[in-house]
Amino acid sequence: MSYSMKETVDTGLSRRRFLTGALAAGAALTLADRLALAQTMASGGLTAKDIHGIGVEPGLVRMALNENPIGPSPRALQAIAENMFKINRYSFGGGDIFGALAEFDGIELPPPPPSRSGGTGRMGGGFRFRRRTPFFITAGSGALLSQISLAYLSKGGTEVIEADMGYGDVSGEAENYQEAGLDVNIVRVPVKDYKHDLDAMLGAITPKTSVVVITNPNNPTGTLLSFEEQEKFVAAVPENVLVVIDEAYIHFVRDPEYKTAVSLATRHDNVIVTRTFSKVFGMPAMRLGYGICSQAVQEKLRFYSTGRANALAMAAGEASLKDRNHYNRSRAVVQHFRDRLEDEFTKMGLEYIPSESNFMMVDLGKPSMNIMREMFQKGVMVTNRRRQQMPTWIRVSSGDERETEVFLNVLKEALGKTS
Ligand SMILES: Cc1ncc(COP(=O)(O)O)c(C=O)c1O
Repeated sequence: MSYSMKETVDTGLSRRRFLTGALAAGAALTLADRLALAQTMASGGLTAKDIHGIGVEPGLVRMALNENPIGPSPRALQAIAENMFKINRYSFGGGDIFGALAEFDGIELPPPPPSRSGGTGRMGGGFRFRRRTPFFITAGSGALLSQISLAYLSKGGTEVIEADMGYGDVSGEAENYQEAGLDVNIVRVPVKDYKHDLDAMLGAITPKTSVVVITNPNNPTGTLLSFEEQEKFVAAVPENVLVVIDEAYIHFVRDPEYKTAVSLATRHDNVIVTRTFSKVFGMPAMRLGYGICSQAVQEKLRFYSTGRANALAMAAGEASLKDRNHYNRSRAVVQHFRDRLEDEFTKMGLEYIPSESNFMMVDLGKPSMNIMREMFQKGVMVTNRRRQQMPTWIRVSSGDERETEVFLNVLKEALGKTS
């Protein structure tokens, strides 16, 4: 059996599994499910062949791309279904995603502006003036990071500071500009204990610096900065430097009382918090993300806009924000995954980085490439994209309970074989 990176949801089986899986996403495993799982584990262990993951071909355990194994909210699917017959029309925004974002992120919005026709506004009644909110919606947060790079770095005579290792999207864009002959400086500041070294990042700022990027929790290390650390950092950064705080994985932080950087973005004109619907909300293929930032930053970004998020994505996003059940369930799945791995890695004597995200880095103690290949042959996909810096480590993304068991079984086999 061979596997491809391509997502194939074309078989009736996987389509059915996607729908039932997504619709059941609100419910935890039943007692019968748990007993069946315990039985299979006791009788020699699950293999990838037992797995029909949501959104992937049967027999593939895809734990490489930091996706949500339980799929999107059923409410998001319903919103897509309700809106799909309108896609022959240009959309001018029928829902209230701004209201839903404001509620989710605890931000108070100014009242909506009057419509140009004097009525309550919409197509047919009249256009609204653009609502001034702190939200800047894009087709995925990757697109937003590109737009930030264009707006703040592509003129040349600029500099970006990012952690090494960090997500690296903005410095990656900067590399493209360098190749195109632009004068863009890239400063990569080594992490300390796998965490952003904010003092060193601050010390690296020069008069040329345009952007500093923080990924929190960090990818790939999964480490977390406190609100206070970030607040102190932002206060010390010159106001002409944009601080990007990428919170793609913020929803997986263990502490329910954790304070996010949202208030830094609403208080400081030079801070943007970026978020995505690709992770906890489970809809990466829809491409939806947003930034929380000042009107000044929005004006700069708008100049480099290359297209809006689509209507189905916006409807699905709005519905997801209102589905606390799916949100909590997604968090619980990740919590189980982390606890289970920590437990097993400890028993196996493997070093790992405790994670505040939906993935974890683990040191296999030997070159990871062969082990990863062998795991892939057995239907389990993980990544060692950072093999240059950490050649014996892999990053494994959350699976559901059964996928996590298969990952552990296959990892143990692969390690046993290559020892
Ligand atoms: C830290 C971080 N930021 C941003 C993104 C981009 O996410 P998307 O473009 O799907 O919103 C990713 C994707 O994995 C990520 O890991």
